[in-house]
Amino acid sequence: MWSGRKLGSSGGWFLRVLGPGGCNTKAARPLISSAGTLGRDCTVLPKPLSTAVRDNLLKTIPNHQPGKPLLGMKILDVGCGGGLLTEPLGRLGASVIGIDPVDENIKTAQCHKSFDPVLDKRIEYRVCSLEEIVEETAETFDAVVASEVVEHVIDLETFLQCCCQVLKPGGSLFITTINKTQLSYALGIVFSEQIASIVPKGTHTWEKFVSPETLESILESNGLSVQTVVGMLYNPFSGYWHWSENTSLNYAAYAVKSRVQEHPASAEFVLKGETEELQANACTNPAVHEKLKK
Ligand SMILES: C[S@@+](CC[C@H](N)C(=O)[O-])C[C@H]1O[C@@H](n2cnc3c(N)ncnc32)[C@H](O)[C@@H]1O
Repeated sequence: MWSGRKLGSSGGWFLRVLGPGGCNTKAARPLISSAGTLGRDCTVLPKPLSTAVRDNLLKTIPNHQPGKPLLGMKILDVGCGGGLLTEPLGRLGASVIGIDPVDENIKTAQCHKSFDPVLDKRIEYRVCSLEEIVEETAETFDAVVASEVVEHVIDLETFLQCCCQVLKPGGSLFITTINKTQLSYALGIVFSEQIASIVPKGTHTWEKFVSPETLESILESNGLSVQTVVGMLYNPFSGYWHWSENTSLNYAAYAVKSRVQEHPASAEFVLKGETEELQANACTNPAVHEKLKK
């Protein structure tokens, strides 16, 4: 089970139940459908996922530094939008690359990051799709996060294959998305888009919603072992998200890449300032010291 039951709170419950996507819809590059520009002012899914990412990754770090528990971890935030998840991961000490093919999203993310000098060293943003950087970043990341992205991609199998390719052996993949159910059709498309106009028409395509079973099957066929699939439900009365056994609307999946086919990474992908930061912390963190020696 994912850590914690209470996930977080903040406004617009239908948007939360159904996931993000509101705001302006904009065409992007090949292999990407309309996913929307996500300014920081948009009401989107809160980012309790960073806590789940942290707690699961911590199990893989023997000695972590208080205050910067994810120091030394390289994380790729695929479809980062305005950086709502990228920043909390950076604050936990991880070196994060946030990618999004929509230029406006990355500009928003860059702008917000500029208010926090600590994040400048730890976060790098790029305007690109996952499919565009898969070759140069093969087996680079300790973790890949795709929050509310898979329901927007045109070729899901290729996208998930790329997620696997950029992960190091033993690396972790975290996905949140919307299930393909009658309920998600009724709430996500009919109510939100056509009746209440909470999100612009055409933001979501029901055919692209994916069931946990389908997701799991594609992940497993790409050498990823699914550890947990947990529902995410929003309670409009308490104002909190909760982990749930009910996956009929939103859910989160956590999978780990097999260590079997280990071979050297094809490219070095070093973040600006990452090495310096690792060196600065090497004396206090034995895990980082080991990493620098490699
Ligand atoms: C609904 S938003 C989610 C934003 C952010 N992850 C969040 O949870 O706030 C989906 C994002 O995925 C991006 N996207 C869609 N296809 C992508 C791909 N193939 N590679 C990278 N990003 C993609 C879109 O541009 C969009 O910003």
